[in-house]
Amino acid sequence: MADSFDLIVIGTGPGGYVCAIRAAQLGLKVAVVEKRATFGGTCLNVGCIPSKAMLHASEMYDEAANRLGDMGIGLNKPKLDLKKMLAFKDEGVDGNVKGVAFLFKKNKIETVQGTGKIVAKGKVEVTPEKGDKKTLEAKNIVIATGSDIARLPGVEIDEKQVVSSTGALALDKVPGKLVVIGGGYIGLELGSVWSRLGAEVTVVEFLDRITPGMDGEVSKTFQRILKKQGFTFMLSTKVTKVETQKKGVTVTVEPAKGGDAQTLEADTVLVSIGRVPYTEGLGLEDVGVKTDDKGRVEVDDHFKTSVDGIYAIGDVIAGPMLAHKAEDEGVALAEIVAGQAGHVNYGVIPGVVYTAPEVAYVGKTEEELKEAGVDYKVGKFPFTANGRAKVNHTTDGFVKVLADAKTDKVLGVHIIGANAGEMIHEAAVLMEFEGSAEDLARTCHAHPTLSEAVKEAALAVADRAIHM
Ligand code: FAD
Ligand code: NAI
Repeated sequence: MADSFDLIVIGTGPGGYVCAIRAAQLGLKVAVVEKRATFGGTCLNVGCIPSKAMLHASEMYDEAANRLGDMGIGLNKPKLDLKKMLAFKDEGVDGNVKGVAFLFKKNKIETVQGTGKIVAKGKVEVTPEKGDKKTLEAKNIVIATGSDIARLPGVEIDEKQVVSSTGALALDKVPGKLVVIGGGYIGLELGSVWSRLGAEVTVVEFLDRITPGMDGEVSKTFQRILKKQGFTFMLSTKVTKVETQKKGVTVTVEPAKGGDAQTLEADTVLVSIGRVPYTEGLGLEDVGVKTDDKGRVEVDDHFKTSVDGIYAIGDVIAGPMLAHKAEDEGVALAEIVAGQAGHVNYGVIPGVVYTAPEVAYVGKTEEELKEAGVDYKVGKFPFTANGRAKVNHTTDGFVKVLADAKTDKVLGVHIIGANAGEMIHEAAVLMEFEGSAEDLARTCHAHPTLSEAVKEAALAVADRAIHM
């Protein structure tokens, strides 16, 4: 007889593992199915966690090479031991994936290694790497299978010379020249890693700006700062050919609108043009689970697919492909399945690019407000006028608060600056409670902190910043 559960989660990324834990907390009998050897999905194994380890380590290297001297800390030129840096990253990943295994055990969640396929309503067949197939049964099935690299037609990713983010997190030597195709999150974060370690980085972006979708003013400032750090940008440019030679790679590019071609020589090429939902081998068509034109699993407001008892969350459905969005959906879905009222506020999902400086945002951009015809006010405060940033010599960037012109309700907050990824959360909490710029401005902020710039930007909405 098949093992029977209240809930089976296929995939143990941030969406799946969090959903499983929350469901177990609520008393459901839960199983997870994972085809990787370790839990935690893209995020813990080859995404958020290893990339942040490499960003942290390479930033320390850059500090030692370029900034500590200014603080009177004399060092000989730092020596890079890349093997050790990669081991530092792997150790961080190992700690995190083992943490998920521990939480599964603690919450009495059954773990099944293998590839899950939905063979019928309430039935998941699992094919393990070795050994026999087995079938699990459950009232509810959650598809949390995440996403995969988007590929450029005609460009083969060998993960050595032409790499995806996975290969770019494990290069065994610093490339002399790195060409990054796509100026989004991955290109700029991993471009930063290798640039700090000595690579000459050229970003080829199809659109006329980097980080499309981000507030335009922030994105322009971001590009200017990265340029100062040594990045070269080729915007409105398309890649027409990538040829791997014995030594190096030749990338042919031309203006996006057409025109003369140009070739770039590179040691390594990183393809980072987005990610696509991953549903391969799940058997969706056979059971009648519908997907949209982008291959995302279609769900209703309660994460239910076109088939009763089958749900989907995370990167495999619509919305930002972010770990915390997947996690919040996991919690909401577990609560819904357990008969509670789970909910995700999609208007307040922060985003962070973990470069130096960091870029963080929550809510609407100026462009979005303009397009929606909303009458809004802007309060801006530069870090050059913030005491802590001045004394730390981290004055790049600013805080921008967008508030409704009539009600003063905060509609969006954008920060580019050191520690922006930590600072954004006071704005997120404020927006969750539908607070106003005045609320933010009247909240006492400790001195001297970078967060005072958030308060000053909120004051600036009513033209009364103190330090500007
Ligand atoms: P995933 O994490 O992709 O997990 C899906 C899991 O399902 C995988 O383990 C997969 O093996 C498994 N699976 C798939 N099909 C089957 C099957 N049939 N049977 C069994 N198992 C299956 N987001 C952030 O918020 N912050 C960051 O800093 C960040 N950095 C990133 C850096 C990189 C380099 C990358 C690539 C992504 C990054 N992301 C980041 C995005 C983040 O990783 C994803 O949004 C997140 O992992 C999505 O979670 P998920 O649970 O939907 O899916
Ligand atoms: P992305 O969507 O962030 O950026 C892709 C970029 O490539 C865009 O600027 C796009 O215009 C450009 N592009 C698309 N096709 C192109 C082409 N043919 N030639 C040149 N440029 C092209 O995707 P990315 O960087 O691959 O990351 C995937 C996703 O992973 C992100 O969208 C994000 O959801 C997640 N992620 C999140 C991180 C974070 O939260 N800090 C870090 C890394 C990834």
